[in-house]
Amino acid sequence: MTATALLETKGLTMRFGGVVAVDHVDFTLQEVELRCVIGPNGAGKSTFFKCLTGQLRPTAGEVLFRGAPVGRIGTHAIARLGVGIKTQVPNVFDGLTARDNVWTAATKVAPGRIAERRTDEAMERVGIAGIADRIVGQLAHGQRQLVELAMVIAPEPDLILLDEPAAGMTDEEVDRLVDLIAELNQRHALVVVEHDMQFIRRIAKTVTVFHQGAVLIEGNVADILTNDQVRDVYLGKQAAGRTDLTHARSSQSRLRLPEDPDHPRGQFRGRGRRVRGHPGP
Ligand SMILES: Nc1ncnc2c1ncn2[C@@H]1O[C@H](COP(=O)(O)OP(=O)(O)OP(=O)(O)O)[C@@H](O)[C@H]1O
Ligand SMILES: [Mg+2]
Repeated sequence: MTATALLETKGLTMRFGGVVAVDHVDFTLQEVELRCVIGPNGAGKSTFFKCLTGQLRPTAGEVLFRGAPVGRIGTHAIARLGVGIKTQVPNVFDGLTARDNVWTAATKVAPGRIAERRTDEAMERVGIAGIADRIVGQLAHGQRQLVELAMVIAPEPDLILLDEPAAGMTDEEVDRLVDLIAELNQRHALVVVEHDMQFIRRIAKTVTVFHQGAVLIEGNVADILTNDQVRDVYLGKQAAGRTDLTHARSSQSRLRLPEDPDHPRGQFRGRGRRVRGHPGP
């Protein structure tokens, strides 16, 4: 007998005019599983997340949460079912204190006293209780990221989606994030999108690779990060976008490849998904 998956997508497709951002994606995540999703710029990772949370209504296909279709029920209803997302673009209220930000998130799914308790617990877990009364707009970027994380976990979702959570963080903040993800994963399922392969290697067990809207390959982290097809996808883009790298690094987060004698660590960001025709299997 197989248990019902926490999350399942079947043939999930999202088109924007002529661009197929998500292309017939079949994806399954079990209860309390941790999955990492990687793929070059424009591969469709963020669009996939938005389809899961109801921010976008898929063009075709299904999203099932514990076996029930949620593709058409809207963002609030999906959040109430137990899905929380930290979006790629920061989503905090700069004029409010850290605590008020987290409380705003908690109160969406729980009444007064419970929301208060969940706010305090979330801030404690993330390690930001000491900056509860600080105005978020005045915090360093890494601290703002942690406030966002507390906002995501305060409603106690069963499934946490993190879109590039390590972007812009210092090495110390990344260390803390690694520990936090492991701690969260004891009770919650997580899907983490990230370009920093060193980070992925530290947290991941199973990795799904997106390319041009579709799932290219899925497997054990060690196999995926040494897979030739995966390297071709990234390095092909790197070569194609080489002239843009300086600009890309300043405006976007980093793709850091794992240490490898053939591919020394560097900071690369490929650009544009319309460079088709990567080498096939
Ligand atoms: N609202 C939109 N309207 C039109 N096209 C869009 C929209 N959102 C995304 N796209 C396109 O869909 C494709 C997938 O974009 P998406 O942001 O999901 O990629 P991504 O994998 O998250 O990339 P990155 O790693 O740079 O964040 C891209 O070609 C993008 O330009
Ligand atoms: Mg994205």
